[in-house]
Amino acid sequence: MLIYRAYKKMSDDLLIAESGGVLRGSVRVPGDKSISHRAVMLGALADGVTEIRDCLMGEDVRATMAAFRALGIRIDEFDGGQLIQVHGNGLHGLKSPTAVLDCGNSGTSMRLLSGIVAGAGLGATLTGDESLCRRPMRRVVEPLARMGARIATQANGTPPLDVAAGPPLHGIDYTLPVASAQVKSAVLLAGLFASGETSVTEPAPTRDHTERMLAGFGVRVVRDGNRVAVVGGQRLTATAITVPADISSAAFFLVGAALAAEGEFCLPAVGVNPTRTGVIEILRLMGASITLQNQREIGGEPVADLRVRRAPLHGIDVPPALVPLAIDEFPVLFIAAAAARGRTRVTGAEELRHKESDRIETMAAGLRCLGIQIETFADGIEIEGGPMGGGDIDSHGDHRIAMAFAMASVLAARPITIQRCAAIATSFPDFVPLARQAGLRL
Ligand code: S3P
Repeated sequence: MLIYRAYKKMSDDLLIAESGGVLRGSVRVPGDKSISHRAVMLGALADGVTEIRDCLMGEDVRATMAAFRALGIRIDEFDGGQLIQVHGNGLHGLKSPTAVLDCGNSGTSMRLLSGIVAGAGLGATLTGDESLCRRPMRRVVEPLARMGARIATQANGTPPLDVAAGPPLHGIDYTLPVASAQVKSAVLLAGLFASGETSVTEPAPTRDHTERMLAGFGVRVVRDGNRVAVVGGQRLTATAITVPADISSAAFFLVGAALAAEGEFCLPAVGVNPTRTGVIEILRLMGASITLQNQREIGGEPVADLRVRRAPLHGIDVPPALVPLAIDEFPVLFIAAAAARGRTRVTGAEELRHKESDRIETMAAGLRCLGIQIETFADGIEIEGGPMGGGDIDSHGDHRIAMAFAMASVLAARPITIQRCAAIATSFPDFVPLARQAGLRL
């Protein structure tokens, strides 16, 4: 039994991608991770029962659900998670947790929760796995401290975070030093509980799901250019949310199909919020053929069916303004760059070093192993497109790196073995069966 378990764990952690897959037909990717987290969080703070359809049931969102259950919120799951009911306790209805809140691998859980827990005046300890415990948290602690919160990090600014129970917060005007939707959201969520107005000014637009969803819960959110503000004390009213398919998960198939689709490949009902569509713009600049059809709005979020055809890609200088709008898609965009004719250069992307792994170095190491010429710098990478061989890649337990290299197999000359893949379950638990269904040879 023990040997079987060890084998099972090993095989869960290892993916072998045989070369030469061809993508055909369509794939419905799961719900958007960022929107799913926020639906659970705002549902918990609302008055009444919020119903969430197509919520992503990956480990990251499950970590958020577990944290809110520990904060006294009842969350019911029906039809294998197709329908979630969050029984909100109102803005002041969270209870102090009796155990540590474990955010697993999820930066969104930890950063947004720290704003909510501090805002609610609760004492709590927030921790996570090895990867999360290496990630920078001063970026949220610093603005929350300015609002009056007391949060201790480890000496180097990493988790665990100890949030001290304390008096109510007060609103601030905060200018983000880095373009981060997680920090923006943590401050705005804390601002729901604070006295007066809380505003955040961002250096560049980042995903605005928090602002859109707050409006859907009846909160007045005022946007003026790059500044967004909420006045504290507003009640949230429960609502019904359908989560669009995650463009970050669709991105693997967009690239796979651009490189190796037979006919037209379709990804239905994908969220195309303009703060998330950088991947489409970058791929189009590289020559990809992607069209948006049947554009509509679902619950305040734009949605479309994406259609992709195979097309020859060429290298580009990625416009730095598109970087925050495609921040999670760079692992697979680097695969597209490796398959493109000529050189691709990405700058202004230092944030990639602070994700689930250092995505600049992890991708560079993997692509070099496949025979691609790469140069890295503090804030970016230069990739010379060329033929890809095969090899043994270490994903460093980073879900998006693992899935990106699985897609590379469509053009690789030999099999790609990808180590430490279990983290795929954090954002896309069904990636392997869906990718096989699409035509990958995993
Ligand atoms: C997210 C924001 C981004 C992104 C992350 C999800 C969110 O992080 O990389 O996967 O849901 O707000 P940053 O805010 O650190 O850029």
